[in-house]
Formats: sequence, C-alpha cells, structure tokens
Amino acid sequence: MKRKKIKIAPSLLSADFANLGRDVEMCDKYGADIIHLDIMDGHFVPNITFGPQIVKSIRPYTKLPFDVHLMIEDADRYIPDFVNAGADMISVHVEASRHLHRSLSLIKSYGISAGIVLNPATPSEFAYEAAEYCDFILLMSVNPGFGGQSFIPSFLRKCESIANFLDNNSYNHIEIEVDGGIKADNIRSVTDAGANIIVSGSGVFTGNIKSNIEALKQNSN
Ligand code: DX5
Ligand code: ZN
Repeated sequence: MKRKKIKIAPSLLSADFANLGRDVEMCDKYGADIIHLDIMDGHFVPNITFGPQIVKSIRPYTKLPFDVHLMIEDADRYIPDFVNAGADMISVHVEASRHLHRSLSLIKSYGISAGIVLNPATPSEFAYEAAEYCDFILLMSVNPGFGGQSFIPSFLRKCESIANFLDNNSYNHIEIEVDGGIKADNIRSVTDAGANIIVSGSGVFTGNIKSNIEALKQNSN
C-alpha cells in the first residue's frame, strides 16, 4: 500500500469561539494542512454549532482548505450556502442522507471535494457502495456531537478494511479521514490503519497549539 501525505486537520469545535479568526491563523502558522469545521443541527446530533455565516466570516483568515463536516439533516438544502461560504471539501453522513449519490453529485457540481462520513457502528459496506462517487471517506472514531471524547478502538479494524478495499479496487486517489479522540499519543495507530487526513480538536486546542501540531506531525509516521 502506497502511503499518502499525512495531513493534520484541526477541528475548530475545541477552538476559542470568541476568537475563531485568530485560532485559524495560528493553525495555519504552525503547520496545519486543513481546517475542519463541524456543523451540527441539534437533530442528527445532540448539539448545535454554527452555520455558513461563521464559515464565511473566518474564510479570510487563511488560504488552507476548509473541510466542512455536515452533521445535519437535509444536507442538500444547505450545501450551496457552505460552498458560497468558502468550503473546499464537504462531507455528508450516510446515516443522515436519503439519496447519497444526489448529495455527492451536488457537492461535486461546484468543483469541490465530496466525502461520505460513517459513524463508528455503521458498516464498511456503505463505503464500498459509494466509493465510486467520493473523493474522501471520513470515518468517525467517536459518536459525533462533541469534542473531547475517547477514541473507540474497534474503528481501527474498519479503517484497515476500507483502506485495503480502496487499494485493491484502484481507488487509490480516495483519501481516508478520521475524526474523534485523536491525539499525539494515538495518531500512529490511525495512520498505520491507512488514514491520511487526521482531525484533532481537543488534541490541538488544549494547551499549546504549536507544540500540539508539531507532536501530531512527528508521531504520525
Ligand atoms: C465530533 C466532531 C469532531 C470533534 C473532534 O462530532 O466531528 O470533529 O471536534 O474533537 P476531538 O478531537 O476532541 O475528539
Ligand atoms: Zn468533525
């Protein structure tokens, strides 16, 4: 299996919401590769975060790609607003989507990257069916809704089997992203399982952003 470049994607869920622009600038300055934005609607997940207006307002603070993780119902209705706000990648949960292919096609019609998201208990088969239509697959390593939760280890098996599936079926261009409970002390298990986009919220914003990003990068391979 050919290793892809490891990309660190801080999740702003654990940033200082009164200073999001400043925190985005710090992530950029200290070597983050992607900014991960968690959009929650209080229906699909038991928490509410922010919408396209906030995404748009922090867009000028960095040129890094914005990765919009939609944890919402009726995602198709809001996808155009997040594209206008500056999203470069948008992912939709298979558990929340009625017509996955339609959602992915809609995202791609704007010329940006489209991804599917699988909750920890969602079978890998969803990824096999949808791989043809996605640019990346986001695997949750916690139940979505909150930052600061502990990593569910059984997810590593799923990550490995999806990585093997992609490898064996000429889907090498598809990236595997993982999200939830990842910190410098366990990042290696995740990259070893075949993921290359690593989301970290509390692992970046608790303590010193610079040394946290450095440690994540150092320990990733
Ligand atoms: C959880 C979110 C994650 C979360 C990760 O629903 O999708 O992006 O912010 O936070 P940590 O890294 O603290 O688990
Ligand atoms: Zn997320």
